[in-house]
Amino acid sequence: MRRRVKKVALALCIAIGSMVVLYIGACMLGGSSFVETVVFLGRFIDEPESVGAVAPSSKLLAEALVVHVIPGVQGAGKRFLEVGPGTGAVTEEVVTKLGPDDHLDLVELDGKLAMMLRARYAHHPQITVHCGSITQWLPQHRYDAIVMGIPFNALPFALVQEIWQHVVSLAKQGGVISYFSYLWLPDIKKVFLSKTKKREFKKIQRYLLDHYQKYGIGMKKVLPNVPPAVVSYLRFTSEIAA
Ligand SMILES: C[S@@+](CC[C@H](N)C(=O)[O-])C[C@H]1O[C@@H](n2cnc3c(N)ncnc32)[C@H](O)[C@@H]1O
Repeated sequence: MRRRVKKVALALCIAIGSMVVLYIGACMLGGSSFVETVVFLGRFIDEPESVGAVAPSSKLLAEALVVHVIPGVQGAGKRFLEVGPGTGAVTEEVVTKLGPDDHLDLVELDGKLAMMLRARYAHHPQITVHCGSITQWLPQHRYDAIVMGIPFNALPFALVQEIWQHVVSLAKQGGVISYFSYLWLPDIKKVFLSKTKKREFKKIQRYLLDHYQKYGIGMKKVLPNVPPAVVSYLRFTSEIAA
């Protein structure tokens, strides 16, 4: 009996160990460093709802998210906003797009992640890190492009609405908002939800779809990501901001 328990325990350890190695390997193949992966996972374990993902975005997903971040020219700088930069996987791509007079605001809810980002970009004069919820961010200017990393499917519907209404009001006329959702995961997740949560979840899906049907200008699937994702691009005009 004891031998059987030992065998089962060993098999479990091997299975869990292999999954951890696969997970870290997949994240590193996607472009994240070991430290970034571990920090991200740690924040997810502490704050599963607001972090809403088990891994940082891969380089390919980050590249897809920033296609509408078009640099300004000297003397005519642009303003960009990244909401929920996490460990900075997408930020690193936005940074490569900054023109000489452009500015990037990062708004991150998680205090520990915001502190890390502040340390990383302390010497970058074009980047400012703000710690807090995007719903409280009231800048003096509007943005040319907004990249969102918010885990909409993990949040209550009322908060999703509040975030969207606020973010849309921060976009310039014709500004583009990019965000991602995970592929297949929402359908799998739905199966395990209670009736009330399922209703809430469906409302979020419908809300995002409605926005896309009105303002969507394109989508891009990114399979090499943990888990695979799809990026949606929306161009907002004063019509929706009103
Ligand atoms: C799914 S992670 C994405 C991180 C990163 N953008 C990436 O792609 O690897 C979501 C991030 O959004 C942040 N977040 C969640 N709600 C937020 C809010 N209301 N305001 C600002 N950031 C928020 C979380 O703390 C977390 O860092």
